[in-house]
Amino acid sequence: MLVFIRPYAWRMLGAFFAMLLASGLTLATPYLVKLAIDGPIANGDYAALDEVALLMLGAFVCLYAASMAQRYLLSWVGQRVLADLRAALFRHIQALPLAYHDQHIIGVTISRVISDVGVINQLLSQGLITLTGDSLLLAGIVLVMLSLNWQLALITFAIIPLIVLATALFARRAKRAFRKTRARNAHMIGDLAENLSGIRVIQAFANEDSTSEKFDEVNQANRDAHIEAMSLSFVFLPTVEFLGVAATAIVLLFGGLGVVEGSLTLGTVIAFLAYVNRFFLPVQELSQLYATMQTAMAGGERVINLLHTEPAISDKTDARQMPPIEGRIDFQQVQFSYRQDEPVLRDIDLSIPAGTMVALVGPTGAGKTSLANLVARFYDVNGGSLQIDGLDVRDVQQRSLRAQMGLVSQDPFIFAGSIADNIRFGKPAAGLDEVIAAGDLANVGEFVNDLPLGYNTEIFEDGANLSVGQRQLISIARAILADPRILIMDEATSSVDMVTEALIQDALRKLLAQRTSIVIAHRLSTITTADIICVVDEGCICEMGAHQELLARRGMYYELYQRQFVEVSD
Ligand SMILES: Nc1ncnc2c1ncn2[C@@H]1O[C@H](COP(=O)(O)OP(=O)(O)O)[C@@H](O)[C@H]1O
Ligand SMILES: [Mg+2]
Repeated sequence: MLVFIRPYAWRMLGAFFAMLLASGLTLATPYLVKLAIDGPIANGDYAALDEVALLMLGAFVCLYAASMAQRYLLSWVGQRVLADLRAALFRHIQALPLAYHDQHIIGVTISRVISDVGVINQLLSQGLITLTGDSLLLAGIVLVMLSLNWQLALITFAIIPLIVLATALFARRAKRAFRKTRARNAHMIGDLAENLSGIRVIQAFANEDSTSEKFDEVNQANRDAHIEAMSLSFVFLPTVEFLGVAATAIVLLFGGLGVVEGSLTLGTVIAFLAYVNRFFLPVQELSQLYATMQTAMAGGERVINLLHTEPAISDKTDARQMPPIEGRIDFQQVQFSYRQDEPVLRDIDLSIPAGTMVALVGPTGAGKTSLANLVARFYDVNGGSLQIDGLDVRDVQQRSLRAQMGLVSQDPFIFAGSIADNIRFGKPAAGLDEVIAAGDLANVGEFVNDLPLGYNTEIFEDGANLSVGQRQLISIARAILADPRILIMDEATSSVDMVTEALIQDALRKLLAQRTSIVIAHRLSTITTADIICVVDEGCICEMGAHQELLARRGMYYELYQRQFVEVSD
């Protein structure tokens, strides 16, 4: 994690020196008190007393400036480290393959980036300096006390083993307790995020009570974990404080005896009392820091784990740029599964010549989407190979591959922003005329022109103020604008009315004349003109051919087609 501090090394160094100065001055002031009491005050030397008082004032002014500088520098660095860490995490998370995101709850990932990073930062910026500063101060105080009067110092230090014992007892429990708070916190945010995304379903099924109950559960579990962790500090911190006060009593007793017997000066005892006081302040601070550290470590582990999650799909070191794609796609004996022992695609052999349109049809859950996902290398095959223009997709850089591919997925995602921005997502530099041209091809213009702000209409998060069909049209326009060499349309028009669908099909046919397209269709009427139709069933391609050919075969395609035809003519 120190890597994240390195860019700000100079400021950290500045904070470090400010801290050294502050510690030194903290050490010096009780000594000045002793000097004043045992010297000028005892001797009635006015001039010397003025001098010591002025010195004291100067020391406090410097202390004030040093501690201000230290705080300023630490917050300055802290906020930057925080932002850098989040940026690094976000980059990394974006690079993680879909297989990772399939298996991880969004809210939990969010809690990593927001809360866990926050606590780590506390440790990194504040903690490091406090740790070194307080340790140095402690060492300094010990040395000064020993040199002032080693007998009294040793008696005072008799209390230290008790503090060590208390800390050791606390430490073991604290680690477990604080780790639990991080896990429970992530769980709670996860539940909250999921319920917010599912709010429509919750309300539709009038399930508010049961989801509230479930949230109450995770919320209370989170509360209990925090209470447990806190109550440890409630016992621990006062214990340390008590031991500090006990040390004061010891100094008062033995130091007082020394003064009465004449072996110690009054100034020394007063300085001792001040040092004991200053001694237990960093001890308390350190033990508080210990609590922060436990939380940070627990959070840090998670963040580091996340940062170290190797993308299961990553570019080979010698991966090369995908050259401009012609569009030939070859599946050779492709085997694929999301989870072990649950094959989703088996022995897929499919050759798609460049510039052709392939349609995938078949029942729900047959593996059509999975097949299309492999082409964009969202997942890797488990066996066989998938080649585009004769190049194995595993041998080229993912981004150079995907940049030439357009995907309209079965659940279109719309970002918050204007309609134009959403279409422009496929080609950020595109001008408004290009956006409108793509929009017209996808029939977006049809409904956009009725909106008062047209293409500048703001869309809510996830396209909440659009119909699903409209969202689909926008995501088709987005893919068209990106001008892909290979276009994948996964039930892209399933929620669009039949007339509009037919219009889009026509437009696409012209647009796609020279490109390869993979179209997954629900309504067979839309793909009858495809060059190749594959009927996918239970992970296999069980029939392949052109429309008329397949009808003539009177197999599965014929059956599917008949059924839809009958439905339509009803
Ligand atoms: N991300 C995923 N993780 C695990 N299993 C999945 C995932 N996506 C799909 N599946 C499973 O793979 C099978 C094929 O799904 P899919 O390719 O989406 O079918 P289709 O698009 O033909 O309806 C289904 O049995 C489904 O349960
Ligand atoms: Mg599907």
